[in-house]
Amino acid sequence: MTAAAPAALTREQIGVLARAVSRAPSVHNSQPWQLHVRGTEVDLLQRRTVELRRHDPFGRDRLLSCGAALTNLELAVRALGRDCHVDRRDGEDVVAAVTIGRPKAASPRDYTLFQAIGRRRSHRRAFHHGRVPQGVHAALVAAGEATGVHVAAPAHLEKLAELLGFATRVLREDRGYQRELAMWTAHTTVTGDGVPEEALSSEALPVAGLVRPDTPVPDDAVLAERLAVENLLVVCTDGDTRAEHLAAGAALQRVWLTATAKALVGSIITQPLHLTGFRARLVSELALPGVPQAIFRFGYPAVPAAPSPRLPLGELFPDGPSGGLR
Ligand SMILES: Cc1cc2nc3c(=O)[nH]c(=O)nc-3n(C[C@H](O)[C@H](O)[C@H](O)COP(=O)(O)O)c2cc1C
Repeated sequence: MTAAAPAALTREQIGVLARAVSRAPSVHNSQPWQLHVRGTEVDLLQRRTVELRRHDPFGRDRLLSCGAALTNLELAVRALGRDCHVDRRDGEDVVAAVTIGRPKAASPRDYTLFQAIGRRRSHRRAFHHGRVPQGVHAALVAAGEATGVHVAAPAHLEKLAELLGFATRVLREDRGYQRELAMWTAHTTVTGDGVPEEALSSEALPVAGLVRPDTPVPDDAVLAERLAVENLLVVCTDGDTRAEHLAAGAALQRVWLTATAKALVGSIITQPLHLTGFRARLVSELALPGVPQAIFRFGYPAVPAAPSPRLPLGELFPDGPSGGLR
């Protein structure tokens, strides 16, 4: 007698997966992903129609975002009590094919990370002064380690301050860049994507938010002092392929959810990494273990941070089998 095939996902279960994917962080909150569900097969697709020509001309941040969504998707499947196999694809559209398997209890760790999905949000504001214990710091680093991905604290903060200060001045003056950014920070309450004004405050560190024409740039010494009271990790990869961008995003999200589960908050900085030659300078000046894909700043919250909107869940499904999910 052959064992019965794993049961197809129910509408309620698809809803759990969709909500988890939708809560992932994404570049400019563009939510550049979709799901295609057939029985026990779930494809995660990138929406390549999301184009950020000035910020992300090669779609690197779009793939990082899809990587973060993939982590959420996998955690949600496991939290539903199902085993799964994830096949990362190098396709243009399908970035991963997830096959849902037989019933299997989620590990306590995966369940804890799943529960953190709804609490995680970008916190671009100040942190409470007070050190994150070494053991917690080490747990975040370990959460992000994966094949070809390395998570490291940057050495030489004065060099980092110099480079971030330079990037801030360049980005502030780049009119084309700023026109594009304005489109993603103005309309959020209407459409459910983009970054709302309330979420952008960055009184702690100018570069912690998205640099806009009026972003102040403190001198390098002041910036270095402010960086010194933050906790920073850089997610790096061995190379710079599309597969590595996806892997970096998946790893970044595991780090972020681990932080959330430990009552920490944080935000990502990728904006300056898109300037020509900037990442090469970071590697050489900061002694990084690979190609930097994202900087994660984190700490204990001193003040609350505003949430960002999301698109209606139905938009996740290109072929419309959402069964009325909203
Ligand atoms: C690949 C990637 C790059 C990002 N880059 C930046 C950045 O440079 N600056 C910033 O303030 N937020 C950045 N973010 C955070 C997004 O703006 C944020 O995730 C999105 O607005 C949704 O808000 P939430 O994180 O509160 O859910 C980035 C997120 C991702 C996934």
